[in-house]
Amino acid sequence: MPKQIHTAEEFIPAKSTLDSLRKSAAHCTACDLYKRGTQIVFGEGSARARVILVGEQPGDKEDLMGRPFVGPAGKLLDRALEIAGIERDETYVTNIVKHFKWEPRGKRRIHKKPNSLEIAACRPWFEAEVRVIRPQVVICLGATAAQAIIGRNFKVTQQRGKLIFDLQIASAVMATVHPSSILRAPDEEARRDEMTSFVDDLKIAAAYIHKHVRIAA
Ligand code: URA
Ligand code: SF4
Repeated sequence: MPKQIHTAEEFIPAKSTLDSLRKSAAHCTACDLYKRGTQIVFGEGSARARVILVGEQPGDKEDLMGRPFVGPAGKLLDRALEIAGIERDETYVTNIVKHFKWEPRGKRRIHKKPNSLEIAACRPWFEAEVRVIRPQVVICLGATAAQAIIGRNFKVTQQRGKLIFDLQIASAVMATVHPSSILRAPDEEARRDEMTSFVDDLKIAAAYIHKHVRIAA
């Protein structure tokens, strides 16, 4: 017998607002990750945000705090957005998978990549967030988000920093690296170079936003 595939679809309320989605998502058991995480980490930001930033899954700190991108990667992201000229307040920040997947190593919890079933199970939450917000721009942070949103064969190393105009989900979609990859750079110089490239990618999105996107007051 084929394994039955559950997705979050069955947990999504008919009349969605960000609040109703967040409340329903707290009860999601569509994949096993809910058992491992402390709590769900739903997206955060205004329903009027014109820009969605989407990462892979919450990290250790996010899992404990219940908020996306509040750990070291989030701090780096904040700094990069500021340099690029994108207000984090103007964005909605979320992840393609909403529970932290980890393995114990000593006393630490080590991030583990979500698999394709978990990504498929969770993506209805992201799709519901998109339906409510109707963003003009989506920025994918890292390969997991990029491949889930743009396409399975998308290569971040080759196609980063390019605006894509022919996807349903938003007028413009762009992918860049995940901020935690910058934190893992082998030395200070590499870290600085990668930060510069990351900010350059975000500046491309920023230029589009400032030219084409009206931020609601
Ligand atoms: N990495 C992610 O992809 N998302 C977070 O929320 C934090 C770290
Ligand atoms: Fe539901 Fe996503 Fe958590 Fe899996 S990771 S239980 S699909 S919210």
